[in-house]
Order: sequence, then C-alpha cells, then structure tokens
Amino acid sequence: MLRPLSFSFILFFFLLSAFIVEGLVEHYKVKKPSTHENVIENRYTVELSHPTEVTYFTDALSNAFAPQHIKIHRQFTHSVFNGVSFKLISSSSGRRFQHHQILQSLFDDESVLAVYPSRRVSSPSLAQSAVEHVAAGVNSSVSKLLSPHGLTQVDRVHKDLKYTGKDIIIGVIDSGVDYMHPALGGGFGKGFKVRYGEDLVGDKFDPSDDDPIIKPGPTPLENCDANTRASGHGTHVSGIIAGKTDNFTGVAPDATLAVWRVFGCTGGTEDDVIIDALLKAEKAGCDIINLSLGDNSGWSESPTAVVASRIAKRGIHMVIAAGNDGLNGAFTVGSPSTGDNTLSVASFDNENVLIPHFKASHVKDNIAFAIPSSTKVKTYPSGELVPGDDNYGFLGAGCPAPASVKGKYALVEEGSCHLQEKVHNLAKAGALGMVVYKNSSKIMYSPRIDNATIPVMGISVKYGEALIDQLDDDKIVELKFLGQLPLPLLTANTVSVFSSVGASYELDFRPHISGVGGSIYSTLPRKLGYWGTLSGTSMATPYVAGSIALYLNSLGKNYTMEPNTVLEHFQNYAYKAPLARGPKGLDSPLRQGAGLIQVYDTITQKVHVSPGSISFNDTASSNYKTHTLTIMNHGDKLVSYQVSNNATLAILPYDVAEDGYTYLEPLNYTTAIAKLRLSKKTIKVAPGKSVQVKVTVIPPDVDPKKHIMYGGYVQFKSRSHQSSHDISVPYFGLVGKQKDLPVFDHHTPFITSDNSTVVYDKHDTLTIQRSNNDTELAPLLNFRLLTGTRLVKVELLERINGKVIGDIVPPLTYLPRNTLTTRRLIHSLILDGYYYPKGNNTNAKTPDGKDDDADDDGVHIPLGTYKIRVQALHLFGDPQKSGDFQTWESGNIKIVE
Ligand SMILES: *[C@@H]1O[C@H](CO)[C@@H](O)[C@H](O)[C@H]1NC(C)=O
Ligand SMILES: *[C@@H]1O[C@H](CO)[C@@H](O)[C@H](O)[C@H]1NC(C)=O
Ligand SMILES: *[C@@H]1O[C@H](CO)[C@@H](O)[C@H](O)[C@H]1NC(C)=O
Ligand SMILES: *[C@@H]1O[C@H](CO)[C@@H](O)[C@H](O)[C@H]1NC(C)=O
Ligand SMILES: *[C@@H]1O[C@H](CO)[C@@H](O)[C@H](O)[C@H]1NC(C)=O
Ligand SMILES: *[C@@H]1O[C@H](CO)[C@@H](O)[C@H](O)[C@H]1NC(C)=O
Ligand SMILES: *[C@@H]1O[C@H](CO)[C@@H](O)[C@H](O)[C@H]1NC(C)=O
Ligand SMILES: *[C@@H]1O[C@H](CO)[C@@H](O)[C@H](O)[C@H]1NC(C)=O
Ligand SMILES: *[C@@H]1O[C@H](CO)[C@@H](O)[C@H](O)[C@H]1NC(C)=O
Repeated sequence: MLRPLSFSFILFFFLLSAFIVEGLVEHYKVKKPSTHENVIENRYTVELSHPTEVTYFTDALSNAFAPQHIKIHRQFTHSVFNGVSFKLISSSSGRRFQHHQILQSLFDDESVLAVYPSRRVSSPSLAQSAVEHVAAGVNSSVSKLLSPHGLTQVDRVHKDLKYTGKDIIIGVIDSGVDYMHPALGGGFGKGFKVRYGEDLVGDKFDPSDDDPIIKPGPTPLENCDANTRASGHGTHVSGIIAGKTDNFTGVAPDATLAVWRVFGCTGGTEDDVIIDALLKAEKAGCDIINLSLGDNSGWSESPTAVVASRIAKRGIHMVIAAGNDGLNGAFTVGSPSTGDNTLSVASFDNENVLIPHFKASHVKDNIAFAIPSSTKVKTYPSGELVPGDDNYGFLGAGCPAPASVKGKYALVEEGSCHLQEKVHNLAKAGALGMVVYKNSSKIMYSPRIDNATIPVMGISVKYGEALIDQLDDDKIVELKFLGQLPLPLLTANTVSVFSSVGASYELDFRPHISGVGGSIYSTLPRKLGYWGTLSGTSMATPYVAGSIALYLNSLGKNYTMEPNTVLEHFQNYAYKAPLARGPKGLDSPLRQGAGLIQVYDTITQKVHVSPGSISFNDTASSNYKTHTLTIMNHGDKLVSYQVSNNATLAILPYDVAEDGYTYLEPLNYTTAIAKLRLSKKTIKVAPGKSVQVKVTVIPPDVDPKKHIMYGGYVQFKSRSHQSSHDISVPYFGLVGKQKDLPVFDHHTPFITSDNSTVVYDKHDTLTIQRSNNDTELAPLLNFRLLTGTRLVKVELLERINGKVIGDIVPPLTYLPRNTLTTRRLIHSLILDGYYYPKGNNTNAKTPDGKDDDADDDGVHIPLGTYKIRVQALHLFGDPQKSGDFQTWESGNIKIVE
C-alpha cells in the first residue's frame, strides 16, 4: 500500500533535490572523498610515483578513451605531489560502468599511488553579507575603535616590540587581491607588497558550469565588477594580514604577500586548482599559507587536506579556517582544517562595528539602523519623518499609504501586512524612505525586503517608540544622516556565533585557537568600494596567519621552530572567553580552541607547555585516561606554578529524548565537570630545565547515552616573578561510546517516488520500469545521517535467499552528517534500474578495457524481484565486522521491462 507523505516530509522534499550522491570507481587505490555532497561526477586526480609518470599516465588515458570522452585538466610535478587531474564524459549509466572498468585497469598500474575523486569547493562563505562600503576610509579615531589589535595585543607588538612581519612571506589562496588598492602596495611583483602569485582560473571560472571557462592570468588581480556576486574576499583577507595606509594597519603590515587566485567572480572552485595553488605556494618559499576556505565535513581525507598536511610537514605553517557552520551544532569543523599538522582557526567577535546612523530632532542619541541586505539604495537625503501607518497599523486591506508621506520619511511598525507591500505602497505614494521597527525586537531590527526602491531603515523598538511619541505630540521630526559610526558589539571578545564547533569525527582536538573574525573592517577591491566589514572564520584565519608572521619575526630569519611548537606556544598564552549569552561560565574549548591569541605574551613568554591541547577521546577508547604535559623553561629565571583544573561549560550535542539522536542545532550548553588527577599540584622549573605533570581524567558522572562533551583547561597559575604569566592547556572528552551512536535518523532510509510524494514502506513493492530511461522520473533512495560515517554500502539482494548480487552504487565513503539546513537535510540516490554486479565483469560490453563509441545500454538489473540493503558503518567501527554497521532493508523491488 502506498502511503502519502505527511506534510512535513513533503516540505522536506521540495527542498532537497540537489543532494544526489553518485558512486565512484571502485578500486583499492581510490581515496575516499571527504564529502560526497561536493563530489564532481567523473572527475579524478591521480597521484603518481614519479614526475616522468605524469606524461606516461596522461598518454595512457588518451589512448584508452575516445577523445570526446576524456579531458585532461592539470598536471602536477612537484616533490610533494606528482599527478594528473582529468574528467570523463559518460553520457549514460552503461557508459559509466564501462568507463569504470577501463579506469580500474589503468589504476592497477604500479605508478599509480592513489586516486582522489575531485570535489567542488564552494566559494568562501561569509557569516554576514551586509557589506558596508566606506569608500573614503575612516578617520584615525574611528579606525582605533574598529581595530581588533587591542584584543590580541598586536598593538603592543607593533608599538613596543616593533615586529611587523618584515621578510616573512605569507601565501594567500583565495579570490585574488586588488593589489592596486592604496593599502596593498599599488602594484605587483618585485618591490611591491604583493610580490608573488598568479591567477589560476580567470574571472569567468565557475565549476558549476558543464564546461567551466578557465583563463589563467599572470597576476592574481581581483577586479570583478560590483554586479557580479563577488565579495572581495581575497582582498579583505590580504588587508587583514598586511594592509597598511593612514588610519589602517594590518596584523603584519610589512609582510610580503604571495597570492594565488582560485575563484572566479562567481561560484566556487575545484580541489585540483587548490592543489595547484598549494604546490606553487610551497615552491615560492612561503613561510605561512592562509586558507580561508574549506568544506563542511569533519573528515580529512580530501586531496587538499593530504597535500596541505604534507606541506605542513616541511615546516610551513598551514593556517586554515574552521568554518562558519557553528549554528548547526557539534562536529561542524570543516576539511582541510581537520587535517594533520594544520592549524584550525575559530572566530571571536570584534569590539565595534560600523553601522549607519541618523539623528532625529528631539531624540538625544544618534540612532543606529540596519538596511536590508538586498538594498541597492545607498544615499539618504535629509528629510522630515511622518507616520506611515494609518492609525499606526495599516488596518485597511492592501495597506494603503497615507498621502501625507509624499516627499517625507515614513515611520511604520512591522505587522498587519507584508513589509514588502508596505514599502511598495509608500514608494508609490512618493515617500523618501521607510523607517521600520518591530515590537518584539529590542535590538536594531533587520528588515527582510527584496525589492525596495526607496531607502529602508530598521531601528530598535526603543527608538521607534521615542519617535512615535514625538509625532504624537505633533512635533516636527527631521532626520539627518550621519553615515557610518562605530557601535559597540554586545558579543565583543567572545566566540562568534557562526564559528564551527569541534571536534573532528576522530575526536581530534579542533578548532585549535581563535583569531578575531566577527565584524572585521578591512580592504575591498576598488570596484567594490575600497573598504568594508566582513565576518567569518575566513577573517579570523588571516588574523592568526599575520600573528604567526610576527612571532617568526621574533625568532629571526633563520627560525627552526616546528609549526606545531609555534601553535602550542600560541595556545599556552591564549585568552579564555566566557559565554556571551546564556549560562555563566567559560566557553568550551570545542568552540574557542585554546582561546583568542595573545601575541605579545606569546612572543615574550619563555615557558612552553607541550602538548598544547588534550583530547581525552570517548570513555570507551583506550587512550582516554592519562596524558603527560611537559613544562619547559626557555627563560633565564626560575618559575613556579600552581596546577589546577579550570572546567568550562560542557556541550550537549544531541536531543536524545525527542528524536533518537538528532543534533541540537545550535548546540545546548550544560554543566558536567570532569575531575583531573594531577601528579603534581605545584611545580618549579629552573632555567633550561623541564618538568612533567601527568593528567588523569575522571569524567563527569552523567548518562553516557547523552554523549556529553565536557571540557576545561589545565591551568598553570604563576607563583613566581610578576613578568611570568599563567599558562593554560585546553582539554575535552566525551562521556559515552561513539560507536553506539545510531548512524541513520530513525525515519530513514526510505524510498520515494520521483516526485517525492509517495513513500514505499517495507510492505510495499516498488516497481522499476526499465524502459523508463529518464533518471528524473526514477524513484529515490533517501537516508539522513545523524553522525558522519566512513562507509555506506547500498547493495542489491536476491529476494528469496538474501544473497548479495551487486551494488546499486559503489560504496559511498566519508560522508558528513546531515544538518537541518535545506541544502544538507538528506542524502538521495537515484534508483534507475542499473547496478554494479558483484565479482562478475562479463556483463561489460567491452571486456577488453577499451572505450569504443558504440551505443551500449549498460548493466541493467535482470528482470525479477529483489531487495535493497543499506549499511552504514558506526563511528570508530571496523569495516570488517558486520556488527559495526547499522543495517536497513527495503521491501520488494520489482524490475519490469
Ligand atoms: C585619517 O584620519 C585623519 C583624521 O583623524 C584624516 O584627516 C585623514 O583624512 C584620514 N586618512 C584617510 C586616508 O582616510
Ligand atoms: C515588490 O514586491 C511586492 C510584494 O511582493 C510586489 O507587490 C511589487 O510588485 C514588487 N515590486 C517590484 C518593483 O518588483
Ligand atoms: C579516539 O579513539 C578511537 C578509537 O577508539 C580512535 O580511532 C581515534 O583515533 C581516537 N582519537 C584520538 C584523538 O585519539
Ligand atoms: C641564516 O642561514 C643562512 C644559510 O643557512 C646563513 O648564510 C646566514 O648567515 C644565517 N643568518 C643568521 C642571522 O644566522
Ligand atoms: C578559570 O579561568 C578564568 C579565565 O581565565 C579565570 O577568570 C578563573 O579565575 C579561572 N578559575 C580557576 C578556578 O582557576
Ligand atoms: C536546549 O535548550 C533549549 C533552550 O534553552 C531548551 O528549550 C531545550 O529543552 C534544550 N534541549 C535539551 C535536549 O536539553
Ligand atoms: C507522484 O508519483 C506517483 C508514483 O509515480 C503517482 O502515483 C502520483 O500521482 C504522483 N503525484 C504527483 C503529484 O505528481
Ligand atoms: C528514451 O526513450 C525514449 C522512448 O523510449 C526515446 O525516444 C529516447 O531516445 C530515449 N532517450 C535516450 C537518451 O536513450
Ligand atoms: C556473470 O554474468 C553472466 C552474464 O550476465 C551470467 O551468465 C553469469 O551467470 C554471471 N556469473 C555470476 C557468478 O554471477
């Protein structure tokens, strides 16, 4: 019996169609992509053993496939990575199957070390899109308020220590840089701030096109028109690192920049482009490489993560954004910042942000206002304010605007009819603009309007009512616009709400540390208005990259310190923030890492604790209990510390009661305090000596079913001379057994009709018609993952004896968990009647492994009745053990002609 979907399910499906997963060539050398969501079908990067093999393998590809079926993209010859990236063009499932077989035989060659499926990397996400352009720049007093350097001690490093990043080369892999900007040197090449780099893609590059246009250029100039969707990301990032002009100073204003442009004006990029940029940055001699990009998976098996880790092993600092998915709860740190040896950066909010203000007669304060992000109107003439609602509420049908608004600003309250209609009517009546407030909105109200043709300004209810009072008294109220003024942020110096939350799926300590990334004022390309505010871990990352440049300066040009040691030292002296809102207490290290970098202390303090952070893993793992910290005194005075446990708020990642293990999005905080047994409570360390302290955890006594993530800091409180500072080592652990977590949401998997309105349950028979060759009309197999999983198998079984006869798609690997956002709500697979038979290649049309151009109809599932089995590997599960999988079986699947 077919059961119609409930309303909420239908709602889901209208939104989810983009998230279709495809199988990859099955071969033991195929490295699993870190997320299938972004896998580009039929695109691979093959790693080869030797530079000479690059030509051989390229030739082998060209010989094996008909020219119309293959396109070679990039070739890499570098001591870190040799390889070829290419694309297959397969029009049908049958052809794809045949191509997979040819690839399998090519991959058998011993020169092939690994095969990486290619992925799309979306354009760097920004946490807020409201870019405020301030073409002229700001004056010195405003600039002081907008600078985050007070929060991070960077101001003291510039002033007292005089380090400015000189002689340090920082690589930026991003959307390019407008090096003609007055704060970015005004030129490119020798003698300029932006010294190295190139454009690897060109303005028009967009990987979502079928055949993306690639037009490399000799310099990384970012010069997109304002009408493209370009945000000026790379120029903003570059300014944070090394911008310098009157009234603006980046973190390392004398550092040298090397910029590789990997994004066009719109859209994302592909990982082989990023690999190309990484290899070029290594060759150019970068000391530090900044990657304000990534995907939202907690796995680290992507080729960019692999290449980034190898470059980091050579002593280059890889500084990578943790991601902007914090509102989706725990386990949202993205790849490649989950990779080995890389530095994963979270974001803190700045102290002040530039906000437009007006002055109204009879109201004392300057009034801050928000404009809809879609607004194109940027000029605000002065004018009189009058009531814009009939009887303050537009009670009439269609919300007519009073005639009195002509040539004036209209004050309205949100409600009674859609704002869009109100502003439309006001514009028709000739109003200058609309000032709007919302009764429930204590802070400045951000109106959502798509198509306003007159200025719209959202204000807080406090000022809305103050203005109404004046109008009620029949006073004349004039509005005068004051431009952009700094406004203190309530969340200053705490973790930004958007900052992604750790840990990695392997329970590695992530993010490592924080920079300032919320509301950062920096350079924008000239065409986008010179200056502006952006928010994201994308902004926190260059902040940390610039800070490392200052630290390397302090070591001298011949520094030999390993990147990981530098990171530990930054972690030792970071600032631990409390929560901005909600329960009182320190925020979890899974949000802030060690905390906000304190650059002056990091440079001047000579005592070092290693490791810089601890993961106590889950309570079922073997390595959870005891870790050893080594305290080294590189200074010239005896130091002594009192060692103690400073617990933070814990994180409750799941809603256990409501819906199995649905993630809380955003997460909930809770109180769950671990006890630490310390082998020493007080320590003394003589100059040049070191001391060890064993730290043994006694996890909080809470229900292991909740998988609570506790955390805190091992605190070293200084008891010696004044100039010796406290040190903290962040830790976290998880109470429970990650392996016990269900992988599937308890409603899933399930099969739906193509139009998603019918669900086939276990008692239904789904009939798949082979003659239906339109995949758009094929049914879908859907599943929703509550946790990430390293392996999902989707197999075809004989109905009677349950024997596995093949795969519906080759195994899916390293899938990220789903979230409640529409784009990542659910995974879907198309059931088009084709399959990959098990251990039987005789079905192939061309078993000699050669691509011919004859039409073929591929591997149809033979007529008959079957079942589909879906199995997903639990976290920390062993793929060899069937008991480590969660298993689901469909009802009957009948294949007819
Ligand atoms: C810097 O600030 C001063 C005043 O504080 C102002 O006169 C000058 O124009 C500003 N410079 C720029 C480039 O905005
Ligand atoms: C703007 O939106 C309103 C309400 O949806 C609509 O009535 C109006 O026609 C739109 N105006 C323009 C210029 O598109
Ligand atoms: C945690 O333990 C699991 C196995 O129980 C292991 O696979 C994983 O690597 C460990 N993670 C860390 C950070 O030690
Ligand atoms: C740095 O190293 C180079 C090459 O190893 C050497 O020539 C130079 O003298 C060193 N400089 C300093 C300041 O130690
Ligand atoms: C924990 O750390 C915070 C922030 O650094 C500090 O204010 C507090 O005194 C510390 N608590 C203990 C018990 O050490
Ligand atoms: C999470 O927090 C919200 C808001 O404080 C609360 O309403 C909800 O009950 C909490 N959920 C769980 C599972 O604790
Ligand atoms: C959706 O598909 C099912 C099965 O193919 C069909 O019975 C139903 O009428 C379709 N519904 C709509 C709204 O198209
Ligand atoms: C799909 O089938 C229809 C009718 O059976 C046929 O006209 C069409 O050419 C087929 N399309 C493809 C791509 O095979
Ligand atoms: C392999 O495929 C051929 C052709 O479809 C079939 O005749 C044979 O029985 C299959 N062998 C096995 C072991 O499934």
